[in-house]
Amino acid sequence: MRTVFEPFRIKSVESIRLTTEDERQASIIEAGHNVFKLRAADVQIDLLTDSGTGAMSSRQWGALIEGDESYAGAQSFFAFEDAVREVFAHRHVIPTHQGRASERLLAGLLIDETKVVLGNTHFDTTRANIEYAGGRGIDLPCPEAADLSSDFAFKGNIDLERLTAELGRLGADRVPFVLMTVTNNSGGGQPVSMANIKAAKRICEDHGVPLLIDAARFAENAWFIRMREQGYHDKSPTEIAQEMFSYSDGAMMSMKKDAFGNIGGLISLNSSEWVEQIRSMLILTEGFPTYGGLAGRDLAALAVGLKEILEPDYLSYRIRSTAYVGEKLDAAGVPILKPFGGHAIYLDARSFCAHLSDDQLPGWSLSVALYVKSGVRACEIGNVMFGRLLEDGSFDWPSKDLVRLAIPRRVYTQSHMDFVIEEIVNLFNHREQIKGMRFRQRPEQLPHFTATFDPID
Ligand code: F0G
Repeated sequence: MRTVFEPFRIKSVESIRLTTEDERQASIIEAGHNVFKLRAADVQIDLLTDSGTGAMSSRQWGALIEGDESYAGAQSFFAFEDAVREVFAHRHVIPTHQGRASERLLAGLLIDETKVVLGNTHFDTTRANIEYAGGRGIDLPCPEAADLSSDFAFKGNIDLERLTAELGRLGADRVPFVLMTVTNNSGGGQPVSMANIKAAKRICEDHGVPLLIDAARFAENAWFIRMREQGYHDKSPTEIAQEMFSYSDGAMMSMKKDAFGNIGGLISLNSSEWVEQIRSMLILTEGFPTYGGLAGRDLAALAVGLKEILEPDYLSYRIRSTAYVGEKLDAAGVPILKPFGGHAIYLDARSFCAHLSDDQLPGWSLSVALYVKSGVRACEIGNVMFGRLLEDGSFDWPSKDLVRLAIPRRVYTQSHMDFVIEEIVNLFNHREQIKGMRFRQRPEQLPHFTATFDPID
């Protein structure tokens, strides 16, 4: 296969401070063995998240300078609205400062103690916002998602049979909306097929329940559909995305991912009734409806980013460069989630650290060891993030304990990733030296952000 090179030239660079293992050992102790608490300057290659960490293009920086900072009715808002409408095609567009603000606004309006939100797999802030409003989020991933090593093309799909059963059991009174997250981040960055979105919409319609899309990585999802689903090979990513959204009644999005934003979010909706109420709350907590928690320059840059993210050359490179990392790790025998996701490669920590029990937090321990050995920061999506503390003090562990190598957009080159691959393979070859971890302090909400840990000697 011919090399797919980065389809951009580098115009401005940011130095990386190189560190030694001893320095990193001191840094991780100071951070309470939690990579979220490290100073970014102490990280060599940062794969903690692909959120807000992308590089803007020269066209986006140009748009930034032209941003209209008028309080109301700014031109930048209309450019933003046009760019969103062209792809999402819902009636109303509401800017927010990031994805979780959209989640909070929707949850605040639609959720109370009686409500349940069904989805393929809710992201952690989505679930937290649903629960904070008193409701419950239920994940209905397709059965194929449970097999970490199978090659099933659309592991992000929702289980249609269970969706039908749950909607039948709960009814429209208890389910304010069904949420399809594309790609399915917590489920391993796996795509959702067009057929699945379409079928879910039909089921929702039968029960009178709206279908919403969490669109954080909609362009990557569109590219997977183009590559893997029959009938889409000749369609453009924009056409595919438009079809995806045509089956929805609305969407919310973190624009820090597939809009090349360092900040930004949106709600896009057909329901005028919902929009009116959300706008009132928006004014209270985010800002006037034509800026919603963003500066005019942010809106201007996002309008350009939304177009750039759908360029075929970019998406082809994006998905190929992520698969490159996956293929090399796989060839070296490192246990990873397959097929490879769009924005990230996920290490299967329970197999990587087979010498550690769930109580010894294999994924968390692996993320700490990876940082100390190589200065690469990755993120556990597993026992710490999703483990539930039971009344007797024991834990209910999630079905997967993963470490995510999230790849920021347009930031790292192939040689950065070659280094990451070498370091992970090296760690895998000495994996029995990875020490387990235990909680020192565990907050109840979103524990991974602030918990501290001690190594088990
Ligand atoms: N939905 C999905 C699917 C996400 O991945 C995220 C964020 C959000 C919603 C929330 O958006 O951060 O703008 O408030 N994911 C980041 C990540 C944090 O690292 O995967 P936000």
